[in-house]
This record gives sequence, C-alpha cells and structure tokens, in this order.
Amino acid sequence: MEKIKINIDNIYDFVSKDEINAMKQEIESCNALVHSGEGKGNDFLGWVNLPSSITDEEFTAIKKAAKNLSKDAEVIIVIGIGGSYLGSKAVLTALADNFDFLKHKKKDPVIVFAGQNISEDYIHELLKAVKKNEIAAIVISKSGTTTEPAIAFRIIKNEIEKRYGKKQAAKRIAAVTDAKRGALKTLADQEGYESFVIPDNVGGRFSVFTPGGLLPLAAAGVDIKELIKGARDMEAATGADIPFENNPACIYAAARNALYRKGKKIEILASYDPKLLYIAEWWKQLYGESEGKEGKGIFPASVTLTADLHSMGQYIQDGERTIFETVISVDKPDSEVIVEKDTDNLDGLNFLAGKRISEINKMAELGTQIAHIDGGVPNIRIELEKINEYTIGALLYFFEKACAISGYALGINPFDQPGVEDYKKNMFALLDKPGYEKEGEELRKRL
Ligand code: PA5
Repeated sequence: MEKIKINIDNIYDFVSKDEINAMKQEIESCNALVHSGEGKGNDFLGWVNLPSSITDEEFTAIKKAAKNLSKDAEVIIVIGIGGSYLGSKAVLTALADNFDFLKHKKKDPVIVFAGQNISEDYIHELLKAVKKNEIAAIVISKSGTTTEPAIAFRIIKNEIEKRYGKKQAAKRIAAVTDAKRGALKTLADQEGYESFVIPDNVGGRFSVFTPGGLLPLAAAGVDIKELIKGARDMEAATGADIPFENNPACIYAAARNALYRKGKKIEILASYDPKLLYIAEWWKQLYGESEGKEGKGIFPASVTLTADLHSMGQYIQDGERTIFETVISVDKPDSEVIVEKDTDNLDGLNFLAGKRISEINKMAELGTQIAHIDGGVPNIRIELEKINEYTIGALLYFFEKACAISGYALGINPFDQPGVEDYKKNMFALLDKPGYEKEGEELRKRL
C-alpha cells in the first residue's frame, strides 16, 4: 500500500532479521486463522471483511440519517463508551481543523460526546453549554446495557423531549445497537428512533466501520466513502493471500511479538501531531482490551511529541529498558508555515529562518528516533503520506488486522474482554442494584 508503509529497520539492533524471518510462517498462519475462522473468538470476525462488504445502499442510509439529524441541529451529542465512542472520536480529531471550535458559522453540526464517563461536572457543563443550541443525539451501545452511556442517554433524552416534545424528539434521536437484544433496541423500537445495527459478529473495539463509527462521522461531514476506501485497500493489502514480506499487518505483528519475547513488554505509540491523539486512545483500547489477558500482553501506552518529550521523554530515554516505540510518522501536512528571519535575532533562531515548521518537526522526530534507539528503545515506523480520510481508514484497518494476528501469536482470544466485568459487578453491588445486595454488603466492609 503506497500511502502507508511499515518500516522495522530500527528494531534489528534488538531482534535479528533471522529472528523475524523465523516468525514468518507462524505469523502467516495467524493471519490465515483470522480468515479461515478457525481461531479463538471466531464468532467475532465480522470486522475482517467489513470495509469490502459495505454496500451503496448502506452508505446512502447512513448519509440520509446523518442529514436528517443535522438538518435542524447545531450540536449533535454522540453517546457511547469504549468501542462505541473512540472510533468516531479518533477519526474526527484526526480530520478536524484544530481550531474549528472558534469558527462561528459552521456548515456541519458540532459533534460532542457524552456517556464516556460518569462525571457529574461533565454532563452538567454539557447541558449548560448547549442550552441555546438546537440539539440532536446519536446513542451507540452494542449491548444496549452499558451503564455509562445508558445514564447519559436517559438525561439527554429527557432534555430533548422537554425541549421538543416526545414526537419531535424521536426525530432528533438515532440509535445504533444490536439487531435483536438489549434495552436500547427495545427503547429505539418503542420510541420509533431511526436505528442502525452493529452486527452480532463485530466486537465494540472493531466496530469503527459499522454505523457505530460511520453515523457520527457522516453527521460531522466526514467523507465516509473515502474512509472506507482506505480501509478496503488495506483489507486487500493485508489479506491471507499477501505474503509476509508485503503484508504490513503481518510485519507489525511479527515485530511487536518478537520484541515482546525479548522482554520489551511496553509499546509506546508516538506521533508528532496532536491530531493523532485519539487515534492513540483508540489504539490503546484495541490492543489493551484485545491482548491483555491470561497474564500476558504488551502494555499499550502513548505519547504525543514533541510535547511529551518534555515529560515522558526522560523515562523513554533513560528509564527501565522494557519499552519499544511505534511512531506514526506523517510525511507532510498540507498547510505551510515558514519561520521568518528576524533582524535582531534575539532568540537566536535565525538558523531556522526559511524552514517549514513541518521540517523542524521532522528533524525533531528523526533526532528523537536516533536518541531513543541509542538509549535502548527499538523503533517501528508507520509512515503515512498525509492525514486524510483515506489514510486514516487504512491506518485503522491496519491496526485492527495486526491486532488480531498479534493476539493469535500471543496465544490468547483477541476478541473477548472477560476482565472488564469485574469493576461492573462491584459498581452494581455498591449501588445496590437488585440482585447484588449480598455482594454490596461484603464490599462495603472493605471500604
Ligand atoms: O470493545 C468492546 O467490546 C468494549 O470496549 C465496548 O465497546 C464498550 O464496553 C461499550 O459497549 P457497548 O457498545 O455494548 O455499550
């Protein structure tokens, strides 16, 4: 794939080329398992061919619903958590103008998120902020039973109904959920909300290319066809028929597993553009929830550079040597800002005069790369030509595919998340949810 490349040249001081080549067969078989459906968690492989199977009718339906919601809304509140939040948040942050919020006249509605926390201040301030705006909502929950978005939706639904009446409110709310089960499905049917489905065989963190990711993005004015085109091309570029050396997902999966087996237990995803901040948050969920089980898994962390070179940089350079770094390296931005010459040169920066900011950023990136390698931190590079719908779609699919292959190489089921249930049980017990009274009593003794 031309517009995204993987480069693992800078891991060879830590893992030899022979060691990577020796993993070729193992990793290809893991990729084959993803396609044959014979691996663990094979009832959650619906995401594998999702980009290539989205039909024109589906695009049209999503765009139509997005248009209907946007028609009278200045602000659309998107409610969801985890995989029902981070995908659209990541794509939107990557593609939006950093200072869009300062623009007074906007073509598309502003998207704000709720239900991704239980902060009272957050929901209070959100309701206060949109008091004078026309609002609509998209509620996304595959299970339809997740507490955080359910609480936020109850509050926002009430607000919309208070303002517009029940009948009009129903036109301002869309739901994305399971096809058959869950409280949200029942509610959506009963209230007559426009609704979309997250297929049964697509898990939350792999759902960015379902309406769960696409509907909010379409409402924000993102070209979802181009996003899917990028994902589709990456789907083809990482297929089971693509040999290891040409398959970026296989190479990434091999590199990170080889490093892990050598004691590099932490992977830091680094980028040099704050637009990619939420891509890293999405990636952390994808890899953390997929791989961290049975006492195994690479711990996913992230930094935005150069900002974090002034904080985490010290640890990366000099702390415990259990880290490797994966850098999302963007070739060049579209915008051009040049450092000007200053007659007095009091800041001593005239040596930079005439250079683009991106050129300086690139030298910071390359200088840091060498420093980190010298400090014992292997470096994987994912090279993106630009940040746009196409490359972001390709990047997300690339990470999904590599995550599944990697999880199989680790020997775990990448598609379940048994560990996330424990906090929920305790929270329900402490809140006296019917059925949890006894556990609640026991837990209170420990507080
Ligand atoms: O990846 C996952 O399955 C989770 O992170 C879910 O996306 C998250 O818990 C939200 O679940 P739901 O969409 O059912 O509300």
